[in-house]
Amino acid sequence: MGKERLDKLIASMGRYSRREAKELIRKGLVLVDGVPAESAEEKVDGEKAEILVGGEDLGYRRFTYVMLHKPAGVLSATEDARQRTVLDLLPPPLRRMGLFPVGRLDKDTEGLLLLTNDGDLAHRMLSPKYHVDKVYYAEVDIPLDDSDVAAFAQGIALGGDLRCLPAGLRIGADAHQAFVTLHEGKFHQIKRMFASRGKSVLYLKRLSMGSLRLDEALQKGDYRYLTEDEVAKLYGDL
Ligand code: URA
Repeated sequence: MGKERLDKLIASMGRYSRREAKELIRKGLVLVDGVPAESAEEKVDGEKAEILVGGEDLGYRRFTYVMLHKPAGVLSATEDARQRTVLDLLPPPLRRMGLFPVGRLDKDTEGLLLLTNDGDLAHRMLSPKYHVDKVYYAEVDIPLDDSDVAAFAQGIALGGDLRCLPAGLRIGADAHQAFVTLHEGKFHQIKRMFASRGKSVLYLKRLSMGSLRLDEALQKGDYRYLTEDEVAKLYGDL
């Protein structure tokens, strides 16, 4: 990774902007290996040095991983000329970190969205080679039955030569409710799978991706950083 300017390094940890980092350094509130930093331009190796800001170790990480409870009505994109994107739900320091969503959710879909700048993890999580399961909760307009479960298990044909991999379908307490497990991610896949059974999806929420589950304590539109353990488990899924 090598050395970086101290203000940039602090800003990359997400809590403070670059301007705030400069101010904290100026006030002598930033300690590098126990010594107050003298300049924002000081070059520091974030992986080796201990950096305390106001006495607190901000936990330098090479990459950032954020779990967002995506609400309906925002795009799973990093920018859009007209519409709000998931990045607009994050505070400015996090918006500057090059985060992108790992696998898109439709505008009207809610639930778990992982945002990171770790391209390698994202690439592998989305690759069919690694079969990272995605679990969704869906509500449909017409009650589901065992023939739907069997069709999902067989692999739904979406028209042309497009065939889905076998998918899990568990009917909920009410036959309009379903838990769907996908091992791949085609465009509008769940809606198209149900449509092929003559059913429309009225509500869709992603609950998990591999070992990562949506933290139900997160309100819609809120985010939190992944824990070290969650990141390690995601790598363990691959
Ligand atoms: N399948 C869909 O149809 N939409 C989503 O947002 C995710 C999976």
